[in-house]
Amino acid sequence: MPELRKSSVIIVGSGGREHALGWKLGQSRRVREVLFAPGNGGTGKNLEIKPSQIDRLVSFAKLHPESLTVVGSEEPLSLGIVDAFAKEGLRIFGPSAKASLIETSKAFAKQFMNDAGIPTANFAIYSDAEKAKDFVARQKTEVVIKADGLAAGKGVIVCSSVSEATDAIDRIMVRKDFGPAGDKVVIEEKLIGEELSFIALCDGKTILALASSQDHKRVFDGDRGPNTGGMGAYSPSPSLDEKLEDKIMERVMRPAVDRMRASGREFSGFLYAGIMLDQKTGEPYVLEFNARMGDPECQPIMMRMDSDFFEYLEAAVEGRLDCMDPIAWKSQYAVCVVMTARGYPGNYESEKGKVIRGLDSDFGPDIMVFHAGTARDSSGRIVTNGGRVLGVTALGADARRAISNAYSAVEKISWGNNDQQYRRDIGKRAVSS
Ligand code: AMP
Ligand code: GLY
Repeated sequence: MPELRKSSVIIVGSGGREHALGWKLGQSRRVREVLFAPGNGGTGKNLEIKPSQIDRLVSFAKLHPESLTVVGSEEPLSLGIVDAFAKEGLRIFGPSAKASLIETSKAFAKQFMNDAGIPTANFAIYSDAEKAKDFVARQKTEVVIKADGLAAGKGVIVCSSVSEATDAIDRIMVRKDFGPAGDKVVIEEKLIGEELSFIALCDGKTILALASSQDHKRVFDGDRGPNTGGMGAYSPSPSLDEKLEDKIMERVMRPAVDRMRASGREFSGFLYAGIMLDQKTGEPYVLEFNARMGDPECQPIMMRMDSDFFEYLEAAVEGRLDCMDPIAWKSQYAVCVVMTARGYPGNYESEKGKVIRGLDSDFGPDIMVFHAGTARDSSGRIVTNGGRVLGVTALGADARRAISNAYSAVEKISWGNNDQQYRRDIGKRAVSS
């Protein structure tokens, strides 16, 4: 038998998504070791290199020329990490800076969707605050105000009145709460309906859909309070049947990938469409594109994947996804409950450094505790180190069982004076629908 070609994998990032990607890739018979740059308290082999230190990442990867690098978040993509690796002939999975514009500029993305005929909410783009306010005052429907650039998931303000929309424009364009990301705003018609995350692997031409998922963006139970990076997620989404999947592929993913290629922005990487199903018609509309995997959607998706993920990422990097079989999935449900620091998504600085108890509990085989904002202190103990701290992820034969498995594990974990916070209703939508 020929000897198996083995690779190192370098995961760029430090969140729960990156822990889950590394955990899954580490199970591949093709993977020698998984390294994280910089990783977190749960990820083991960590490099002291930040995702923004692209030159250092390139230098490290050159020492392991057979390695495959996988990028977690949008920041290094927007800084051109993929372009820098490609220039050196190094293998990396993700879109170029030019292609990641589909996420990093909302104005670009909306214009792109319009040109490609992809269904999305009506919109207008302004770079002058007064003109933006005039426009809002003339609207008959409620609006959503979005900072054009990257704002760590916080630059979208869903408004219920003209005065809220005017305040949002002031925050983004006048007070510059999100810095230069607010030089332009996108004003969108507010849609109402169920949301789902449709994420696919792309190699520039071929699109291979991953399992469907839904996340919970608001901080409090019942979808109340401010938007966060995501308080939990589950997979599969009961809203997505085969017919809807075909429709999303045909009306959203196919035109997006074809038009990116035709316009010189060939898209290779995770393409994530945030979809809203219009309450009245059930038709899918794209709220946003992301040029990366979702966090926390990644955690349940990785738990459910049966195939060797490395083989797929390598095929994508080599432009041969068309030769791969569909990815195999467990029939079980997976639910991820995110445990956060007190104060998140506001200020949680004073919450850092608390020792996390219960991580060595006997959770059983269906549970994975993915780390996000954690670190090791000088005594080797795992302590809190961020807003989203852990993503407790469970499999179960159905949604109800996956939820109860996840919460049984969550209840074994605590820190400080029971300072951990989490939503109590993750996955409930999957049970009632
Ligand atoms: P985005 O980052 O653009 O996906 O927006 C974040 C969240 O804001 C979405 O997940 C939705 O919950 C909400 N949102 C964005 N655009 C709209 C819209 N046009 N109508 C209603 N809600 C929206
Ligand atoms: N969970 C939403 C995102 O990753 O953008």
